[in-house]
Amino acid sequence: MKAVAVFPKQREVRVVDAPEPRLQSPTQVKVRTREVGVCGTDKDILQFTYGTPPSGSEYLILGHECLGEVVEVGDAVRGLQRGDLVVPRVRRPCPHATCPACRHGHPDFCITGDYTERGIKEAHGFCSELFTEDVAYLHRVPAELREVAVLTEPLTIAEKALREVKRIQERLPWRPEPGRAVVLGAGPVGQLGVMALLRRGFATTVYSRSAKPNVKADSAEALGAPYLSSKEVSTEELVRRAGAPDLIYEAAGVARAAFETLKALAPNGVLVFTGVPSDPEALSLDGAALLKQLVLRNQVVLGTVNAADSDFEMALEDLGRFRARWPGGLERLITAHHPPEDFADVVMGKKGGGGIKHVISFG
Ligand code: BGC
Repeated sequence: MKAVAVFPKQREVRVVDAPEPRLQSPTQVKVRTREVGVCGTDKDILQFTYGTPPSGSEYLILGHECLGEVVEVGDAVRGLQRGDLVVPRVRRPCPHATCPACRHGHPDFCITGDYTERGIKEAHGFCSELFTEDVAYLHRVPAELREVAVLTEPLTIAEKALREVKRIQERLPWRPEPGRAVVLGAGPVGQLGVMALLRRGFATTVYSRSAKPNVKADSAEALGAPYLSSKEVSTEELVRRAGAPDLIYEAAGVARAAFETLKALAPNGVLVFTGVPSDPEALSLDGAALLKQLVLRNQVVLGTVNAADSDFEMALEDLGRFRARWPGGLERLITAHHPPEDFADVVMGKKGGGGIKHVISFG
């Protein structure tokens, strides 16, 4: 079976002939991969700064944003059948009895760090013709979402973040209006964040590096979110034009931009970090001014990673809503489809160059 794998010791990426997986338990499902989205995490893995093969394997099969089709179900599987479309979750629990998060079905909050992640950390990913997975980690996709469901996983990042923000803002003694949001970064996680925020009623502005015109700005503005370039508009000007944001949704992984924009956060506001920077970035900050701001304005800085069962369900519901509200909006985020053989070139920007989301298609 064809699979795209990284060999960290040899510093190589290639298409391998991997053994075809078989059902190992009655609750497992065999899935034929249809599409795999690529992202910055894949780039880090291909640059050998991130990612670990499963123990005993010299390679890691890549791919964690996946849409597949069920080809076989174990005897105890309920709710899924051959031909159903599915999206798998990424993270699996650590084995430790002392991890309350993993023992309560929330490996996205694992405290030991011994979780595994398919296609990323110690578990093969989905960039192979077939894979098996326990039914507990699969989400059934409505057939009408076939063309866009590969965006489910990156959308779950926003779903989890906004679920957390809602809980955090319950600290306020009144029920706040959704207010204003600024999304930092206009890649797929940023764009899907924009949709999730607009859907919840936030007046949303995108603040990103590249000057207009560019496809990311076009996409954001077609959704109804003004796009401002940080090359042309200072943080002060951002506040003048869009108002002080109650929520900053960081989706760029650039520390300098995030801490600069934090200065604009409204009283009682929340800054959510979702980006995982790849390169070291030295930063000098006035620490006292930062602490003073956070304290005197009752602000929260939140980091969030991965997503839970309920976030995948919400993402699938939201994809349906987004499709109805912005016809063609999700499709516009998918720049191109590529064969598995091009995985590395696409991730490293040597093929397909630019755009928003690149997708590997099988068959
Ligand atoms: C994935 C998450 C994962 C994170 C850290 C992201 O690209 O979407 O599922 O938890 O990387 O490895």
